Amino acid sequence: MITFVWAEDENGLIGEKGELPWHLPADMQFFKRVTLTGDVVMGRKTLESIPNPPLKKRDNFVLTSNENFSLKGVTVCHSKQEVLEKTKEAEKPLHVIGGVSLFELFKEDVDMLYRTVIHESFAGDTYMPPIDYTKFELIEEKKGHVDEKNKYPHTFQIFKRK
Ligand SMILES: NC(=O)c1ccc[n+]([C@@H]2O[C@H](COP(=O)([O-])OP(=O)(O)OC[C@H]3O[C@@H](n4cnc5c(N)ncnc54)[C@H](OP(=O)(O)O)[C@@H]3O)[C@@H](O)[C@H]2O)c1
Repeated sequence: MITFVWAEDENGLIGEKGELPWHLPADMQFFKRVTLTGDVVMGRKTLESIPNPPLKKRDNFVLTSNENFSLKGVTVCHSKQEVLEKTKEAEKPLHVIGGVSLFELFKEDVDMLYRTVIHESFAGDTYMPPIDYTKFELIEEKKGHVDEKNKYPHTFQIFKRK
């Protein structure tokens, strides 16, 4: 099974200058809980946006065109085919965690969407590519808790391909 796991603001924004545009620990916890169930695959820029990669307790795969790229604890792939071949033995979900090029690459393959909507408008430069939501059914929706550490109203949604 292939999933997408991401957070976007009310305009579909996901990134700003190589980082997340917001600080929302509750979403980081949600992200961790979801992705701990499987492997993670990401683009090289998303990998570089993670402090102290790889993501712990998960097999990490990265896509890059750079033949010389290497990082301890990360399996480097140079094509979607290579990612699929290297993860097919694992009987667990493959979580696609961005960025734009990865979401584009796997959009016909994805079975489940884990979307966090942050009900705010941020400044940034990277937007989620369009998803045809008519092909998906919303199976779970939960409002996040707003508190001192999590200042922005947010909603966790889970969609399943129809
Ligand atoms: N809000 C969220 O949930 C979320 C999630 C993920 C990322 N982000 C944000 O998004 C930004 C980074 O994402 P991005 O979209 O700019 O970049 P990205 O998709 O993470 O990385 C792009 C890079 O991936 C490699 N790549 C992609 N497709 C490939 C293919 N088919 N074959 C080989 N290599 C391939 C290339 O690396 P090379 O250039 O090395 O060849 C490409 O430059 C950051 O701001 C990050 O914080 C946000």
